[in-house]
Amino acid sequence: MKKPYVYLTRQMPPAIVEKLEAECEVGMWEKEEQPVPKEILEKEIQTADAVFCTISDPIDKELINKAENLKIISTMAVGFNNIDVEAASKRNIQVAHTPGVLSETTADLTFALLMAAARRIPEGMEVIKNNEWGAWAPFFLTGQDIHHARLGIIGMGRIGEAVAKRGTGFDMDIVYHNRSRKSEAENEIGARYVEMDELLETSDFVCVMTPYTKETHHMINREAFQKMKNTAIFINSSRGGTVNEDALYDALKNGDIRGAGLDVFENEPISADHPLLSLPNVTALPHIGSASENTRWKMADMTANHILQGLRGEEPDHPVTL
Ligand code: DGY
Repeated sequence: MKKPYVYLTRQMPPAIVEKLEAECEVGMWEKEEQPVPKEILEKEIQTADAVFCTISDPIDKELINKAENLKIISTMAVGFNNIDVEAASKRNIQVAHTPGVLSETTADLTFALLMAAARRIPEGMEVIKNNEWGAWAPFFLTGQDIHHARLGIIGMGRIGEAVAKRGTGFDMDIVYHNRSRKSEAENEIGARYVEMDELLETSDFVCVMTPYTKETHHMINREAFQKMKNTAIFINSSRGGTVNEDALYDALKNGDIRGAGLDVFENEPISADHPLLSLPNVTALPHIGSASENTRWKMADMTANHILQGLRGEEPDHPVTL
């Protein structure tokens, strides 16, 4: 019997490919660091039974409607804003993602970003590299305390909770805002639910952890930055589209907030001459929240398992539902 055909939009390690080859014909874009060109994906999706994709592959309605045999789209990510889930569901194509497995790793990075921005770690490194480290000076590179500060988390999902848990180790006062109350975060971590305005107005660290949807598009806008404390540090490790970057730039430039730690941007990769990168109070990273070796292996393995499940006619362990 003919094996089903799975197309991988990125080069994957042999162990992942072999796992799929046991049950499928495998086609793969042979580059690890460059997304597959649109026209190739368009051609492949027409015949594929399954697609293994990443966050940088826009799988829109137009593309989905070209697929004749597609049974499952499995993304190596928790976020699935690049996939038109509604269009897939109308065609009975399953969509799967990788929640849970990356929460702790992404929370580690989020906290690293928070600490780097608060204590001006990248600026310190620049000073040394530029040979500008002079005598010890009382107020040289003074930053912001993390311990006992208020951590405001917008979006208390799995990653938000893992960030909150880290905050407890620093005796932080943790507040959150979410569509629904999270009793586990309240009872076990001691996080306190507050309205959005209170979170923005009183937090020392404002941390965005929400998925990117039509509703969260630019939810952190000019008005939101104006509500924040002048000493606030803004952290985003979810999706760049949740923030109006022009408003963020102005807030940082005008001193409406003190700093920002950003792992995500509205257009990725961000270009080196992006205005945000010209500001000394921005700590920026290239979307590496879940990028520990262990976690990326687990994500790739989980994505492959979802493909096999979908092709066997089973529901994947982590389906995306509307
Ligand atoms: C995700 O999983 O959505 C991240 O942004 C990439 O790891």
